[in-house]
Amino acid sequence: MALRLQGKLALVTAAGQGIGRAIAEAFAAEGARVIVTDVDNKKLEGLKSLKRCKLDVRSTASIEALANEVTTELGALEVLVNCAGYVHHGSVLDCSEQDWDFSFDLNVKSMHRTIKAFLRQYFVRRFLDPRGPRPLCLRRHKSRRHRAHQGGCSRFHQERHPGQRHLSRHDRISVAGGADQGPVARDR
Ligand SMILES: NC(=O)c1ccc[n+]([C@@H]2O[C@H](COP(=O)([O-])OP(=O)(O)OC[C@H]3O[C@@H](n4cnc5c(N)ncnc54)[C@H](O)[C@@H]3O)[C@@H](O)[C@H]2O)c1
Repeated sequence: MALRLQGKLALVTAAGQGIGRAIAEAFAAEGARVIVTDVDNKKLEGLKSLKRCKLDVRSTASIEALANEVTTELGALEVLVNCAGYVHHGSVLDCSEQDWDFSFDLNVKSMHRTIKAFLRQYFVRRFLDPRGPRPLCLRRHKSRRHRAHQGGCSRFHQERHPGQRHLSRHDRISVAGGADQGPVARDR
């Protein structure tokens, strides 16, 4: 193998068997640090990996907890493989509304859950963690008098960092440890 994923942190859902397992094995062979997950964690035995976790992709709470745990322990995820899925057998006539809801939840909504949880953590760590390569500066802006001395209106309306758009106000506040008062905050 050419080690095309050398050092990359990757997470694979449904890595216990089939396509997910094959991806996890190929990623490890390419040098990735692979976190393998499955709803049935017994299936993960024997897989070469950095971390093995039970994960039901139908549970938002479990996904959010794992995203937080992984990012805190190992840093921001770089590759996410959403492999968990299920295909009902039979025709549309055999498919009940319950079957449809189950499939849609497992095959489609699960991806929204994982992407949202890991992407949020990615932005929080990548842009706000002072140990990261590009930490966002969320200091309160200098006094109005100081800014006036700098001259030019652009000083009052600096553009926000693009990464900040992806964070809810809650995330910005909790990570920065104080309210982001923005460039036009009132002087106290
Ligand atoms: N096999 C094919 O020909 C084929 C073709 C196209 C797409 N797909 C899709 O690729 C994916 C994998 O297919 P496969 O054939 O390897 O599947 P598979 O049935 O062999 O394996 C599915 C894995 O998903 C796990 N899983 C089930 N529910 C889960 C949940 N709620 N949370 C986490 N993990 C769960 C199972 O434990 C199992 O390990 C599926 O999404 C499938 O729809 C498969």
